Amino acid sequence: MIERIAALRAEAEAAVAAAGTSAELEQLRVRYLGRKAELPNVLRGIAQLEPAQRGPTGKAANQARQALDALIAARGEQLAGGELEQRLRADVVDVTLPGRPPQPVGHLHLLTATRREIEDVFLGLGFRIAEGPEVETVYYNFDALNHAPTHPARDRLDTFYVEGAGDVVLRTHTSPMQIRAMEAQPPPLYVIVPGRVYRRDSDATHTPQFHQIEGLAVDEDITLADLKGTLLAFARAIFGPDREVRLRPHFFPFTEPSVEVDVSCFMEHSARPPQRCRVCKDTGWVEILGSGMVDPNVFGYVAEHGYDAERVQGFAFGMGIERIAMLKHGVPDLRLLYDNDARFLEQFG
Ligand code: PHE
Repeated sequence: MIERIAALRAEAEAAVAAAGTSAELEQLRVRYLGRKAELPNVLRGIAQLEPAQRGPTGKAANQARQALDALIAARGEQLAGGELEQRLRADVVDVTLPGRPPQPVGHLHLLTATRREIEDVFLGLGFRIAEGPEVETVYYNFDALNHAPTHPARDRLDTFYVEGAGDVVLRTHTSPMQIRAMEAQPPPLYVIVPGRVYRRDSDATHTPQFHQIEGLAVDEDITLADLKGTLLAFARAIFGPDREVRLRPHFFPFTEPSVEVDVSCFMEHSARPPQRCRVCKDTGWVEILGSGMVDPNVFGYVAEHGYDAERVQGFAFGMGIERIAMLKHGVPDLRLLYDNDARFLEQFG
């Protein structure tokens, strides 16, 4: 009996090693270990053997069964691995092929398109693009921008503070990048900074998160005339070649003097029905951004980076991308930009 078991085991082992597919292997498992197979039958019949033979026979049969079990499992894994490989190879899809039928690719969101359009204008004027952190320290967002310790914008009612992080805020404007850009590079510096900003505001004309583009130029002999000329070129590129700009006095802690910049209204006024122009309210001017000459106090914060207020001057400006997009395309409600209504978005393909 023990020889028979050894012979069976050898035969089964050879067959398993030679099995070429999982299906073949399964057939072998049934043949050698299934309910009607010889080896399990030997095990079931142990009780009928001579008492002296029961021990050695049972042991041999058990060992043979365990060895075969393990062998089949191992061979099974091998075969499955190879078969998976084969299936994967047979199923390769060239994902770079066009769809059938080709799907339309969609288009940029109005805000993205507007941001890029504005970037293009300033790239053409010799500015480069920089980006910075949206989670910002109070130092960059307020202190180094010459905000007095009591400035109202610092209020927790206006600014999102990051809890448990000390003096950390969600930046309320892109202006902190003025400081970071100057720290990173000595003058001359011509940079614009697009990005998200955050304020605790929410109504028809304000969302808690919106987008700005900051501009900063620092060089020798920069004057307010350079600011005006630059913004005139910008306004004409975005709103049409016949636009004019005007500067109105204003206040920002980090520019002196500070100005608000208006562009002449670009709506057709002559053939209008007798109601007021919805863009300029018949004033002829539309406010587009805040700006000014860099306050010498601001240069004081970056003096060790080569910014000597006696030697260089600069202008800075900051505009809301939403506002530019809405003005240019006559979008009546800010929230349309965030609703993801395809009927709205598809108008700006
Ligand atoms: N950071 C200002 C704001 O968000 C705009 C601004 C930028 C003003 C640069 C002057 C210079 O209102």
